[in-house]
Amino acid sequence: MSSTPAQNYARLLQEVRRHDHLYYVQAQPEISDTAYDRLYRELLDLETTHPKLADENSPTRKVGGAPLDSFRTVAHAVRMQSLNNTYSEQELSDFLDRVEKNLHGQESEFVIEPKIDGVAVSLRYENGRLTQGLTRGDGERGDDITENLKTIRTLPLSVPKLPAKIEFRGEVYLPEAAFAALNQSRQKKGEALFANPRNAAAGTCKLLDSREVSKRPLAIVLYGLGEVAGPTLKTQLELHRQILAWGLPGHEWFRHVRTPAEVLHAVRELDQARTQFPFATDGAVIKVNRLDQQKILGQTDKAPRWAIAYKYAPEQSETRLLNVTFQVGRTGVITPVAELEPVLLSGSTVARATLHNFEEIARKDIRVGDLVRVEKAGEVIPAVISVNLAQRPPQSKPIRPPKTCPVCQGPLEKEDVFLRCTSRDCIGQLKRRLQHFAHRGAMDIEGLGEVMATQLVDAGLIQHLDHIYDLTEEKLTALERMGEKSATNLLAGIDASRRRPLWRLIFGLGIPQVGAVLSETLARHFRSLDRLSRASLADLTQANDVGPKVAEEIVAFFHEASTRRLLTSLQKAGLNFSALPEELEERGGIFSGKKFVITGTLSLPREDWIRQIQSLGGSVVGSVSAKTDFVLAGEEAGSKLEKARALGVRVISEKEFEKLVG
Ligand code: IVH
Repeated sequence: MSSTPAQNYARLLQEVRRHDHLYYVQAQPEISDTAYDRLYRELLDLETTHPKLADENSPTRKVGGAPLDSFRTVAHAVRMQSLNNTYSEQELSDFLDRVEKNLHGQESEFVIEPKIDGVAVSLRYENGRLTQGLTRGDGERGDDITENLKTIRTLPLSVPKLPAKIEFRGEVYLPEAAFAALNQSRQKKGEALFANPRNAAAGTCKLLDSREVSKRPLAIVLYGLGEVAGPTLKTQLELHRQILAWGLPGHEWFRHVRTPAEVLHAVRELDQARTQFPFATDGAVIKVNRLDQQKILGQTDKAPRWAIAYKYAPEQSETRLLNVTFQVGRTGVITPVAELEPVLLSGSTVARATLHNFEEIARKDIRVGDLVRVEKAGEVIPAVISVNLAQRPPQSKPIRPPKTCPVCQGPLEKEDVFLRCTSRDCIGQLKRRLQHFAHRGAMDIEGLGEVMATQLVDAGLIQHLDHIYDLTEEKLTALERMGEKSATNLLAGIDASRRRPLWRLIFGLGIPQVGAVLSETLARHFRSLDRLSRASLADLTQANDVGPKVAEEIVAFFHEASTRRLLTSLQKAGLNFSALPEELEERGGIFSGKKFVITGTLSLPREDWIRQIQSLGGSVVGSVSAKTDFVLAGEEAGSKLEKARALGVRVISEKEFEKLVG
């Protein structure tokens, strides 16, 4: 018996929803992205051929609408507060005492729930329909990001059983896998990477084009209430259960407890459980359960007195320092690396950690054989933070800085707290330079990553950067594990790099202190590599953003005989040495001649702001002075903000920036 379209539709809808739940809520997808896309297409096709069947909450409705010019700012009906934080169990116990005292003998009970490391939002449903979504903003007023939030797959646009008016508070996040995929595709396109999933989620919420937002699988967890009209809930526990019962995205991990010992137990239990959540969790939130008691306890200016966040310390472990090796970077800087007895840290096994530099080693008195404490906070590379002196074995050996380059035995020079190999022929530097040259953010040569760079140098196929362009299929296929197809692909990638814009070549050369953004400025100003290579100090300081120190580095770089040889042979190899028309587009704009300083945490990567400012004619400098025109300040801005205020420099927020830009 064949099924009717309606039956088919119901089955497909249920199936897509089930996979959404597995992906977003359980973080355990059962099928590949491609298989999911196929199901989704089928659903969409059925809706197109039978429009009457289409469910108004279908996942296919989450595609976004027309782009906005800017976000409207809207006042919050109930202020969006933040939470008091603590890292200590003692302070947590003080909080419980305070609650008890202020409840004057009433018995207290608590709910323990995850503190989600995302972006706070408010969501309003009126007569069962999602009508408004706002960012926290300054707590009083937020940006209207309704269209963006409507793209969230697990968020129904209509929920008939809701009270007439109900506002939820929750946290938007980007699942770990989606974050990795997003950064990967940004890297491919040479765009700045997001530092962590939270920044990526914040940046996504602030996109003006909700169709773009719909391509990034944002997710949300609801955990609180704002304004409510209609039958009210009595406890936080009831809220959590009701959120799930309404079919809204909540979270299933919450505990209802009474005594301080139970609170502590639940907090520790959550610390174990949180590694399995689809979102990053940086703590536990402890909330008084009864809403009437929350009311009695009230709030301070900043935070409620009925809740506290207990933050988990960044994960640390102790392990044995087995050895110290030295890594040579592309400019010759030597980084000491700790080789460790493998240890589990934040869900991954760590066998190496950075020791930063030799002064740091001396200051912490770290020796080979020591038991050391390693830490991994967020996305950062693990680092050795201290030594357990009580456990120092008698035969522990101090770490001596190398006297010559560990790779080429060339001479070393001290520069600040760093040691640097000054040899131009060091193959350690060459491998890193090659890797940098070919990197996606520079010349973008597909197939030429760290492993390939090492292999090519070790096999003697590349002794200077320009030898990349002498590679042939014959030479490549002689390498181990290199098939004909990979060789052809690599050669095609190398060939394509001949036609890259000038700024990529300038960046790829690896001139000390010259990053991608400055490379763009130089390309625009000098228009050809010949002209840049002949520029004097005076010529260089004429260009926007080039200070005297950087100018000296550039002049010194182009004066070296090895650079001259390199350029001659790159030109012979047919590389583009001139700025392409699109690099030269007139950039006069509202910020023409204006100097900016950027400080604090912003919703987009720094590079994005710099690009935006430059595209409008402005420039970005590192420190605040009387000559600074604007300080763009994000959250937790510190000394630069203070200095700007002291000097009377105009300080603007992201929002004011957007207003200025229109
Ligand atoms: S309740 C009035 N519960 O953490 C109290 N907040 O650092 C409102 N957060 O502003 C907050 N998970 O953005 C609450 N389970 C949770 C949370 C949570 C994450 C965020 C929220 C808050 C910030 C405070």
